[in-house]
Amino acid sequence: MSHSEIRQKFIKFFESRGHKTVPSSSLLPNDPSVLFTTAGMQQFKSYFTGDADPVKDFGGRRTASIQKAMRTSDIDEVGDKSHLTFFEMLGHFSFGDYFKKETIQWTYEFLTGELGIDKERISATVFAGDQKIPFDSESYNAWAQLIPQEKIKKGPREDNVWGPAGPEGPCGAANEVYVDDLEVATLVFMEYYCDKNQSLTLLPQKGVDVGWGLERLVQIVQSKDNIFEIDLFVPIIKLTPSGMDERTKRIIADHSRAIAFLLTDGVRPSNKEQGYVLRRLMRRIITHFYVTKTDPTLMHDIFAKVLEMYGSYHPELNANVIIHEFDNEREKFEKTLRQGIKELERIENINAQSAFRFYESFGLPYEVIKELGGDKAKDLTREAFDEEFKKHQEKSRAGAEKKFGGHGLLLNTGGLKAGNEEELKKVTRLHTATHLLHASLRKIFGDEIKQQGSDITSERLRFDFTFPRKLTNDELRQIEDMVNDVIKKKLPVIKTEMPYEEALKSGALAFFKQKYPERVNIYSIGDPSSSSGQVFSKELCGGPHVSNTLEIGKFKITKEESTSAGIRRIRAIVE
Ligand code: SER
Repeated sequence: MSHSEIRQKFIKFFESRGHKTVPSSSLLPNDPSVLFTTAGMQQFKSYFTGDADPVKDFGGRRTASIQKAMRTSDIDEVGDKSHLTFFEMLGHFSFGDYFKKETIQWTYEFLTGELGIDKERISATVFAGDQKIPFDSESYNAWAQLIPQEKIKKGPREDNVWGPAGPEGPCGAANEVYVDDLEVATLVFMEYYCDKNQSLTLLPQKGVDVGWGLERLVQIVQSKDNIFEIDLFVPIIKLTPSGMDERTKRIIADHSRAIAFLLTDGVRPSNKEQGYVLRRLMRRIITHFYVTKTDPTLMHDIFAKVLEMYGSYHPELNANVIIHEFDNEREKFEKTLRQGIKELERIENINAQSAFRFYESFGLPYEVIKELGGDKAKDLTREAFDEEFKKHQEKSRAGAEKKFGGHGLLLNTGGLKAGNEEELKKVTRLHTATHLLHASLRKIFGDEIKQQGSDITSERLRFDFTFPRKLTNDELRQIEDMVNDVIKKKLPVIKTEMPYEEALKSGALAFFKQKYPERVNIYSIGDPSSSSGQVFSKELCGGPHVSNTLEIGKFKITKEESTSAGIRRIRAIVE
């Protein structure tokens, strides 16, 4: 049975039981608190809570869908026989209509009747109960009508309570359904609203949210022990060069689907959030192509195949966008890659510390360092590399605390710290200088410059931003001159308070890594009502700042360097 027959059977089965088929929603959910769509229920959240009316929108209380989904927690595991990032979920949903008995009956009928699975192979788990949610006896009894009791297990909260998707939302007791040892479906019985503090209140109505992993189901039906052998992957794997190792082929097969769908849904490679995930997937493929000396335009054929296979189910897939964006990222990243590989050849011995440095500065993944390093990297292990990674994270967290002893601070805004009056004056001057630097970079290089980080001590400022290459000495001088010109003009620094949304609309710069309150302060440098009439810089910020730019003193760049691919760092002082 092919994947398309399984899709059709699913939709027909549930349509004939009164479900309205609803198109997949985007991989980017409306809900800003979650990165990706990870489950079919997300587009239906407000129908479960009773905030939206399914009868008005779907003509009834039952829906079904084939949802595009993306889960990133196992991204590094991809390459083995089972892990995926992008997948599809067959789902059916009830909003205040049928409940446990019908759901379990249909699950069983679909598996045995439609897919021809022997009932001996089916088992299930139900929630054993805890202080918050009782033992799910109703599910237990419904399963006991269909399969022997020794095939029904009572499971803990981790496995048998599902939701919320995101920080809050509907949730409830869940059954896991297995064929042999493979979990193929989760049946969620939505009864509660789980708030941000994990406390539960009863929903106004009961709901059902069932999700079947399509690829897993196909794997069972096609009797494969490796997910990459099903007919959703074989046509892609066939296009990869025969000499390539199995793991790399699987990575390409998985990542190419994810990349195609993410780009189509509007994600672009970047250094933040969804864009960062996409960039990681792209760079992994690019690196593998590069080190195996495979013609990268082969990816065009692979994307064309993805479109051929999925176009009829997901007509939004856009070949031009996918190929254009992929090639664009490749051209950018290959330069860094080349440089990194050259460096790698130069050094004599590759240990965990140096490997981590290559990872940080050039984006070279562990496997590539290990592979290219050859004999020089023979003692390098994954564990030691991960250990180094952790150490580094802890160090950067502890850094801020150590600098000022972590107590008795005169100023502590989280980002800015000062232990005494003198330090306070200095960090304030450096802080305003940072705004001028940011504005100058954007004036010289355009709005593509995006802040990636900022760190100010009483000695110096440090500012990280997106930029594809090293800055020349001339450019550094140009930046310095622009900042110093503004300083000399003695422009006022003016603070205004307004709602966050309005602040963004006014064109003020915000820093994406930060969470802002509803009302925010904007610091503008330059007075729009004065005769010069120019505002040089405008940023959302908690302060403090100098009152006019002359107080800053002379601005001097001391260093320009790279922190990782596509990110530059400027250090500067004020004298
Ligand atoms: N929400 C459940 C899941 O994602 C069932 O659809 O597994």
